[in-house]
Amino acid sequence: MLEIWGRQALKGEVRISGAKNSALAIMAGALLCPEDCRLRNLPSLADITRMGEILTALGVKIVRQGDILEIDGREIKRAQAPYEIVSQLRASFFVIGPLLARLGVAEVPLPGGCAIGARPVDLHVRGLQAMGAEVTIKHGMVEARVRGSRGRLKGTKVYLDYPSVGATETIMMAATLAQGETKIENAAQEPEVEDLANFCRQMGAKIEGAGTNTINIGGVERLHSVDYEIIPDRIEAGTFLVAGAITQSELSLWPVIPEHLAPAIAKLEEIGCKIVAEGPNRLRIIPNALKATDIETLPYPGFPTDMQAQFMALLAISEGNSVITETVFENRLRHFAELNRMGANIRVKGNNAIVEGVSILSGAPVMATDLRASCALVLAGLAAEGKTIVQGLHHLDRGYENLDGKLRQLGAKIQRLDNSYQLSRN
Ligand code: EPZ
Repeated sequence: MLEIWGRQALKGEVRISGAKNSALAIMAGALLCPEDCRLRNLPSLADITRMGEILTALGVKIVRQGDILEIDGREIKRAQAPYEIVSQLRASFFVIGPLLARLGVAEVPLPGGCAIGARPVDLHVRGLQAMGAEVTIKHGMVEARVRGSRGRLKGTKVYLDYPSVGATETIMMAATLAQGETKIENAAQEPEVEDLANFCRQMGAKIEGAGTNTINIGGVERLHSVDYEIIPDRIEAGTFLVAGAITQSELSLWPVIPEHLAPAIAKLEEIGCKIVAEGPNRLRIIPNALKATDIETLPYPGFPTDMQAQFMALLAISEGNSVITETVFENRLRHFAELNRMGANIRVKGNNAIVEGVSILSGAPVMATDLRASCALVLAGLAAEGKTIVQGLHHLDRGYENLDGKLRQLGAKIQRLDNSYQLSRN
């Protein structure tokens, strides 16, 4: 668990790691390539390690050296992803598209729900079925097989009822090796979708429109080796901007891609902070008195749901009343209760959280419920009077590379109290 002594000003600069949600999708995408791939700027996270275990379980050779991962997908020995790993990492479901595209068959356990919602995969399945896959779901296993000639998927037009990030990525990856053209309408526009598309294009895939709501993919026979650098993590960057705002400290962050942070920057400026560019990929936050504002989470380019918990912690000490509406996941406001234990004044009605700003939070022992909620509690601890103990670090270590170390290096009084789950850079 983490022990934090609050109201300590931070200062300096922090290096932002590679994007977790990009790396996870791209590691699955490497299965499309019958040669070796090199990925750079990979963060050291539990989720990334688990995705590596999935690839190994499929018989693919991987070698991790610091932030570089070599993947040799020459031969995929098995088409079954192991339940014990998929049940811990939902994103491992992303291997279903590449396995179908490469082998014409895939058996991937149905990923369970998690703290923030049921997390169905019906849009993934319907997209693959539209491309000619026969999919049966029984005993918690999704079994997919391509009907007809040579087991090859066929290009088609898919309209997504919801711009799901995962479903867009699954269909886009499967379509790279399908016969003919695939068009995805109402596609997710998240930067991680675009990063995955750029990775596939560098392997020789024909993809146009990634990052917009319509993506066109022309199927090819075969992809080739690539050496690819993952984009910086916009959610980690946004988290550190909030760390600056909530402790009233000036901080610099790099590398970042500023346009990926547009929603978070807009809201921080509404709250009263200034964000200045110190170079093409470097930002500095200059905080000021914090004022209430309203937030509604939406698919990109709307305000990201992955930043909602962090902003709830910030709005808890911003003057006035804020309303936070979570429209993406059905159960992602749970951190309000733990923040209230720290003296916040938040009421939840349905998918709305009404936050009445208080002048100060008080440190307390709190329990994290999911990845981003754990981060919100750390941020609240940095601002609170006295000591906060955050338990449930396994959530934190899934998504943040050395968050406590990076905060300590900025001057925060934060330390891990036991040898809880922490990745060492291998
Ligand atoms: C990705 O999850 C991210 N994870 C999530 O980040 C992120 O919160 C989410 O996108 C939204 O931006 C990874 O990229 C590994 P969705 P994903 O499919 O793909 C519903 C984090 O903290 N839906 O866009 O699962 C779903 O229930 C994680 O890093 C269906 O109904 O998100 C949800 O309500 C958390 N059917 C909504 O769409 C489907 O087949 C958005 O889900 C798929 C999704």
